[in-house]
Amino acid sequence: MAKVESVHDFLKGKTILVTGATGFVGKVFVEKILRVQPDIKKLYLLLRASNPYLATHRLQNEVIGKDIFRVLRDKWGADFGSFISKKVVAVAGDVSLNNLGIKDENMRSQMFEELNVIVHTAATTNFNERYDIAIGTNTMGAFHVVNFAKSCHKLEIVLHVSTAYVCGEAEGLIVEEPLHVNGMQKGSTKLDIELEKQLIEEKLKEFKAHNTDKEVITSVMKSFGLARANLHGWPNTYVFTKAMGEILLMKMKDTLPLFVIRPTTVVSTHSEPFPGWIEGVRTIDFVVVNYGQGILTSFVGNSETILDLIPVDMVVNFMIVALMALSKGLSKNFVYHIGSSLRNPIKLTDVVDAMYYYFKKNPCVDKYGKLMAVTKKLTITGANEFNQNKGSKLVKKTEDLYKTYSLFKGIFDVKNAESLRIVTKGLLMWMVNLTLIQRTLIGKTT
Ligand SMILES: NC(=O)c1ccc[n+]([C@@H]2O[C@H](COP(=O)([O-])OP(=O)(O)OC[C@H]3O[C@@H](n4cnc5c(N)ncnc54)[C@H](OP(=O)(O)O)[C@@H]3O)[C@@H](O)[C@H]2O)c1
Repeated sequence: MAKVESVHDFLKGKTILVTGATGFVGKVFVEKILRVQPDIKKLYLLLRASNPYLATHRLQNEVIGKDIFRVLRDKWGADFGSFISKKVVAVAGDVSLNNLGIKDENMRSQMFEELNVIVHTAATTNFNERYDIAIGTNTMGAFHVVNFAKSCHKLEIVLHVSTAYVCGEAEGLIVEEPLHVNGMQKGSTKLDIELEKQLIEEKLKEFKAHNTDKEVITSVMKSFGLARANLHGWPNTYVFTKAMGEILLMKMKDTLPLFVIRPTTVVSTHSEPFPGWIEGVRTIDFVVVNYGQGILTSFVGNSETILDLIPVDMVVNFMIVALMALSKGLSKNFVYHIGSSLRNPIKLTDVVDAMYYYFKKNPCVDKYGKLMAVTKKLTITGANEFNQNKGSKLVKKTEDLYKTYSLFKGIFDVKNAESLRIVTKGLLMWMVNLTLIQRTLIGKTT
């Protein structure tokens, strides 16, 4: 078996392509690499832009200009700008296009020559995205990354970031197994990705022929995505198109050194580069913030549902250690869940308690500086009760967005992730006991 080397040594002199660096997970990944190994050779960041000038502008404003980089900025002081310009290259592109949308042929050849590692995090994470956009980004994006990777001469490893919820309507213990198109059959309906693409093409042609209004196209394509997802057994367009992305990867990977991580629900940083950093109001934060402001008083779910939450810095730490381990052949598994529901389960009711005690102690403040005290815990109602009571628009919106998770009946197995932790023991110091975090969350400090 190959020797376990330190992550530090592994990263030294490497050239890495990262997609999705303006996003939540991508940004934390880029920051950590630059912080722990300044001797990285180069980071190419593929940013959605039509030209290099705009890509560089996005790099400055939407990546390194963000607060998550403040520790690194402080570390380098006046030299921060020159450090970044030596190490980071903004590449204009788009993962939904061939060659990742990189128009500059010289840039492409240089990347094919230099890249050692590819980390693909780019995705549209909108649950209710237009079907054509979601399939272009999440499904064909994965396809284009694999094609690009196959042209690289010195490639050691490719990481595709998926989501644990590609499992669709599964229940019970959900194992870390690859998705194969052959297994994708709901009743008599068999998934055929080519057919899905063809159906989209036909719809778009029809819109063109009828000069259809853009708003109508958006609305029809959103409903179409949801209908196709439901038909094939997925709750929304996002996870359906991510699942199809994984299926294509499986089909195409051939001998490419490639693996997939499937994080569960990614939440703010636990400790690095500092605790509590998050980008905007996302995933479960929508519920937390609206409750803290007194806007949301009830929520559709089951108190006993186990929520699977994982801090973003833990996801990134796993990504980095796994890149090293898989490139050295220390694990042969293809899929890794990154979550907490098996080893450190936390129930919806515990999160509700934590929210109540937190906001009682730290109330939100309105725009006039007045405290917005919470007086009651968030009420959890069953979906049927909600339908009878015809709840508020906000409750309906949260139900639509979150019921897949707040009524979820699965637990994510982490056998593969755990065995990787064992072979790289010592490197995974970051895998702190999540119970500690949960206890802090619910105010139990013992
Ligand atoms: N956040 C979670 O809770 C969670 C949980 C499980 C798995 N994941 C997975 O983790 C990955 C990262 O998620 P995230 O939360 O960081 O998402 P995010 O914040 O929504 O960021 C998505 C990133 O993808 C980029 N992107 C979208 N379409 C693109 C295109 N056509 N070409 C190039 N780049 C494109 C976005 O760029 P723009 O700035 O141009 O839009 C952005 O940088 C995704 O693959 C997601 O499925 C996330």
